[in-house]
Amino acid sequence: MLREIVSALWLLAPAYAANAVPPLAKGKIPMDFGRKMPDGNRILGDGKTVEGFSAGVLAGTAVGLAEAALSSGVPGLPEMTPLTAFLLSFGAMLGDSCGSFIKRRLGMERGEEAVLLDQLDFVLGAAALYSLVSGISPLSLATMLLLTPIIHRLANILGYRLGIKKVPW
Ligand code: CTP
Ligand code: MG
Repeated sequence: MLREIVSALWLLAPAYAANAVPPLAKGKIPMDFGRKMPDGNRILGDGKTVEGFSAGVLAGTAVGLAEAALSSGVPGLPEMTPLTAFLLSFGAMLGDSCGSFIKRRLGMERGEEAVLLDQLDFVLGAAALYSLVSGISPLSLATMLLLTPIIHRLANILGYRLGIKKVPW
């Protein structure tokens, strides 16, 4: 059980870093370039910027590379490589963008809370791309999905208190 939790956090660290950094990027260029879908709502909205996405991928990959360096030869931890570091980070940003896409299709404003979607979109994206090169057991996916809302909530409350985020979710 503890081993499952440690492994899940180890794999998710790049994704968490990727997801935490975009608000700091103070991005200006919306990834959808302001465009709307036929439903009249933005494709992604002003909360998804090119700068935020890029900063997230870079920060997450950096964390994963640090993990790869630290863990070389440490048994028991899932292997981290430059490729998995990138896939976990890029997947997290992709999943986060898909989450916003879904929110806009549901007519939700930027920043409006979508309880499970806001918290799990980036994990699902990270797990999806990671699984292209390495297996994820159902148990470790379940562990990731259970742990993340708790950690995400705590981190966002912290970000809100520090003035990095406008809303505590
Ligand atoms: N952000 C960004 N680029 C991204 C993702 C996030 O610039 N690709 C920044 C934006 O300033 C965003 C903030 O990080 O407002 C918080 O991210 P998130 O909660 O994912 O976005 P929301 O503003 O809540 O928008 P949405 O409703 O689309 O989730
Ligand atoms: Mg949000």
